[in-house]
Amino acid sequence: MVGIDKKTKEEKKLKDEDLFKVVDSTIDSRTYFNLIQIARRLNIEAYFGAISSGKEARIYPAKTIEGKYYAIKIYYTSTAQSKRAIKKYTEGDIRFKDVKISNTKQLINTWARKEYKNLSKMYQAGVRVPRPIMVYENILVMEFIGENGLRAPLLKELGDEEITEGLYEDLISQIHIMVKRALLVHGDLSEYNVMVFNEKCYIIDVSQAISIDHDEALKLLERDIENINNFFESKGINIKPKEEIILSLISGE
Ligand SMILES: Nc1ncnc2c1ncn2[C@@H]1O[C@H](COP(=O)(O)OP(=O)(O)OP(=O)(O)O)[C@@H](O)[C@H]1O
Ligand SMILES: [Mg+2]
Repeated sequence: MVGIDKKTKEEKKLKDEDLFKVVDSTIDSRTYFNLIQIARRLNIEAYFGAISSGKEARIYPAKTIEGKYYAIKIYYTSTAQSKRAIKKYTEGDIRFKDVKISNTKQLINTWARKEYKNLSKMYQAGVRVPRPIMVYENILVMEFIGENGLRAPLLKELGDEEITEGLYEDLISQIHIMVKRALLVHGDLSEYNVMVFNEKCYIIDVSQAISIDHDEALKLLERDIENINNFFESKGINIKPKEEIILSLISGE
């Protein structure tokens, strides 16, 4: 009996290790453990190498046994990595003005949860964002934007000929839905936080989004629109004046 138990244990261990197609030294053991739990829950058979390392997180594609892909956003938890992240979370964010950050991990988990909540609110309101699947400590699972584990390009990465007036209008209409139906302002919108798949814009990276009631909302909304307008204008697209867009966003219709 002992022998059989041992074998089952070893086989299971091998299976868990098989999950990870690459070894990533930035993932700590707790995160590994959590990834195994998530794999069991979502039928994930493999995690692949990071497709991006940003300021606050890394994104990994994961494949289910049904052949479906998810995007796994793992927020950095190590002190060195999260130092930059904490700066991003707290600097200029008045909600953190009086908060003493005593526990880094807790803050990081809160941030992952916040992104999940914002994604859910936007998704339910009809904004084109990756569909949120689940959040677990510092790990957010969402719909994969792209095909067969190959991510779609960012707006920033498109060739000039792919940047059209139609795409601009699509993005402005997404901002409309975000503000008028989800009642949120992105707060970090630019050509770096929009993916383009099948000629449609997908808004990503929504952890810092804030309610339209927030004191800073109008200022951040103006900055978001300025960023988008500047980008499309630099590509020769006829843009709508910022004031006109803001007016239509804050007016009753
Ligand atoms: N749902 C998704 N499907 C496919 N790829 C994605 C998805 N979400 C994000 N990515 C890819 O991962 C990158 C980083 O994502 P995101 O902007 O959310 O993280 P970040 O850590 O805030 O990065 P940064 O600091 O660069 O803004 C994106 O630029 C995009 O290339
Ligand atoms: Mg980003």
